[in-house]
Amino acid sequence: MGTITDFIDFEFTRQSHEDLINNSLSFLDQMLKRRSVREFSSEEIPEEVIMNIVKTATTAPSGGNAQPFLFCIVKDKEYKQQIRAAAEKEEKLNYEKRYSEDFKNKVSKFKVTYQKPFLEEAPYLIVVFKEKYRIAGEKIQKNNYFTESTGIAMGFLVAAIHNAGLVTLPYSPAPMGFLSHILNIPENLAPVLVFPVGYPKEGAKVPNLKKKKIEEMCRVY
Ligand SMILES: Cc1cc2nc3c(=O)[nH]c(=O)nc-3n(C[C@H](O)[C@H](O)[C@H](O)COP(=O)(O)O)c2cc1C
Repeated sequence: MGTITDFIDFEFTRQSHEDLINNSLSFLDQMLKRRSVREFSSEEIPEEVIMNIVKTATTAPSGGNAQPFLFCIVKDKEYKQQIRAAAEKEEKLNYEKRYSEDFKNKVSKFKVTYQKPFLEEAPYLIVVFKEKYRIAGEKIQKNNYFTESTGIAMGFLVAAIHNAGLVTLPYSPAPMGFLSHILNIPENLAPVLVFPVGYPKEGAKVPNLKKKKIEEMCRVY
């Protein structure tokens, strides 16, 4: 990135400590209600909402402002069918041959199988790609921190989906090369995660997971 000579005033509204506490607590309360949901209703939702969610994700900070991510919004039934079929083909092999018994025991609490009906049931899938490098004419420009930047953007995406009043599941098919093939995405972009988005199915259940205590994940110096 060259030297930036063009600077603008930073818009900022200063808030009292009391407001800071209230803001942070109400966001925490809201985020505590987020769960990954694996059972989706097929009920339609406005495309505008999905677009706003993706726009929010793209506001994330990124190394050198490269914004090294691509969000593919999949609403077309045939694309969703293709993605489900390809994912289940790989997952079937995973469960039958590739996964260790240890791994299968670990994920058994989620009651997941090779079947991924949510890939067709959810009204939208958002497939996220990270841009490893960009091609500028004859030159290849490596993106620094493309993994971290895309990770942060996906965090924004999950929070925006939850904030909008919808649910999602970060889904990581393995291997996931089929996503590039089906969506016709060039090699400089690598698929990272698939996010089905929609309303939960009526009566949807989620695993009763134990979360770590804050002391196990945070140290104050
Ligand atoms: C990077 C990542 C990959 C994940 N991959 C899968 C997956 O392939 N299948 C699945 O059912 N859940 C997947 N999950 C969801 C996690 O299982 C879930 O977030 C975790 O159990 C915590 O539950 P919660 O999101 O409801 O708090 C993934 C989550 C993340 C962050």
